[in-house]
Amino acid sequence: MNTLPLKMIDMPYDWDALEPYIDRATMCYHYKNHYGGYYSKFVNALKEIEVNSSEIDLEFFYRIDDLDVKDSYKSLLKNNGGGRWNHSMFWLWMSPSSKLSGAFKKVLESEFWSEESFKDKFLSAAVGRFGSWWAWLVKREDKLVIYSTPNQDNPLMKGDFQVLLGVDVWEHAYYLKYQYRRDEYLRNWWNIINWERVEQLRNGAIWF
Ligand SMILES: [Fe+2]
Repeated sequence: MNTLPLKMIDMPYDWDALEPYIDRATMCYHYKNHYGGYYSKFVNALKEIEVNSSEIDLEFFYRIDDLDVKDSYKSLLKNNGGGRWNHSMFWLWMSPSSKLSGAFKKVLESEFWSEESFKDKFLSAAVGRFGSWWAWLVKREDKLVIYSTPNQDNPLMKGDFQVLLGVDVWEHAYYLKYQYRRDEYLRNWWNIINWERVEQLRNGAIWF
């Protein structure tokens, strides 16, 4: 069992490191207020239902529906546990120095025909819902699969434990800078993907 450190991760770069694609103010509010809120509510919910943090592993999210707790707690755990995990990953899925390696480019070409076609498919998943959601790339039985989940749900809750990439499509992730221009946010986000991390995750690394 790979237990997850129950903490907020330190931001791995400066608040303004992702400019001009994501601005300093968005990063500050997103990390301190939204991520911080999910974290503290998740910790409180675990205390109230007396689940020890050492029991929190990737499979925990898959087991939430089977827990012997009220449905309101299941929602709290999904919304805030998902919010904490998704954002912990999200900060590390971005980098000011984004570079797609030749090896991973070949992987994308073999799975999706071309890098451009992969980008189109991923970004289509990232605009395809109503409300707030995340879009994901997961590895499932050696195939790469793209889909989205509503709210703060994530692939772990569906039994996909090898999550390679995810993007936050909540308005709080872009509205300060982009307002209604969600497509522009997503296209710009493509310039700051931490491909090195995506490759490590594809090769079986477990980070959070
Ligand atoms: Fe967010």
